[in-house]
Amino acid sequence: MTSGSSPHPPPVGEARPDPRVDEVLECLRSVIDPELGDTIVDLGMVRAVTISGDDVTVDVALTIAACPLRAQIERDVRGHVAALDWVRGVEVRVASMDAEERAAVMARARWKAREDAPETAVPARTRVLAIASGKGGVGKSSVTVNLGVALARRGFTVGILDADIWGFSVPRLLGMEGDVEARQGKMVPLEQTVGAGLVRVLSMGFLADEEQAIMWRGLVLNRAVQQFLQDAHWGDLDYLLIDLPPGTGDIQMGLARLLPRTELLVVTTPPVAAQKVAARAADMARRGYLRVAGVIENMSDFTCEHGTTYALFGSGGGERLAHSLGVPLVGSIPLHPDLAAAGDAGTPVAAAGGELADVFAEMARTIAEDVAPLIEAEGCSARLVQRVEAAVARGEAEAG
Ligand SMILES: Nc1ncnc2c1ncn2[C@@H]1O[C@H](COP(=O)(O)OP(=O)(O)OP(=O)(O)O)[C@@H](O)[C@H]1O
Ligand SMILES: [Mg+2]
Repeated sequence: MTSGSSPHPPPVGEARPDPRVDEVLECLRSVIDPELGDTIVDLGMVRAVTISGDDVTVDVALTIAACPLRAQIERDVRGHVAALDWVRGVEVRVASMDAEERAAVMARARWKAREDAPETAVPARTRVLAIASGKGGVGKSSVTVNLGVALARRGFTVGILDADIWGFSVPRLLGMEGDVEARQGKMVPLEQTVGAGLVRVLSMGFLADEEQAIMWRGLVLNRAVQQFLQDAHWGDLDYLLIDLPPGTGDIQMGLARLLPRTELLVVTTPPVAAQKVAARAADMARRGYLRVAGVIENMSDFTCEHGTTYALFGSGGGERLAHSLGVPLVGSIPLHPDLAAAGDAGTPVAAAGGELADVFAEMARTIAEDVAPLIEAEGCSARLVQRVEAAVARGEAEAG
């Protein structure tokens, strides 16, 4: 499947493959086909890795030439390979698969879908973005709710799953309260209209008050997120945002198993030792097969009332982290007292007008148009799988 060429070809009869080919392949395991929920390496989409000097050429085969994910996969491949420290140039050559290759990929995707991913109540077309960070208090929850609101203002239906079971803060930040009701034995998320769109929220905060929640400890922790994904009426969502607890623990791993197509948005503050967090996040993504879709820098500059801007915590951390992960920097959110105040008041800044709302609106635009656009196109891989399965089901029904 792969081949490598080094600047010094091995003597005739003695195969000495360039070990850097394996390194490239290993890093390509971070590139996931978000529709098929598997790495492009395991799906057999990487046809060849060729190394010449410090230049790398990757040949990628897509299920169909007009796949709407083409640009994303190309960019991911380029970004991840370029992040290897010895790489100087990256060329990505994209071709489309022949019928036989496509059948093999579909077989693998179907097998994996059956093997790995349990049924969830999240529709197949929903883009699932989990907001993660290496450490606590960097603004994951604030980013989640404001991004959710900004996406809803664009007209999307957005689910927000508060996966911070014990430290839940989404209800407070959104100013939503109430009890989750059950319909046919499943939880109904609380709903709020935002502009032309809709936000649907599930959180432990709607299930128990904080004192009660502590008593549930251990009993439900491992099951809570699973129940939020499986035993809930999410309905037809465009996006599902998942507010993760800090760190890289069980919840993240469980998510990788339950909903392997989840993509991570890693939140960082400028001063964080970028390399360390990057390594942790990337490692987690690799082990859990979660693709990192982008980096969001929070608490970057502070502009005082006189208009002077201070980089209180230094600058460039988000950019550095994004670069070392080989993914785009989705946005930078300034340090601003309004953000904290609005959170306390339960009126997210993204819901109103103003500078901060514009920052989140711009981030929502980047996500919707570039980083994680909805997959609408007919004929792309997931649609293919669905159609094949439907045809098989019809055939079986007719035969039976
Ligand atoms: N850009 C910002 N400017 C000012 N304050 C902010 C900003 N972002 C977040 N905050 C404040 O920082 C605190 C932590 O934010 P938040 O709760 O969103 O972080 P978190 O990463 O979800 O934390 P945890 O790891 O505890 O879940 C909150 O008080 C919040 O209002
Ligand atoms: Mg939080």
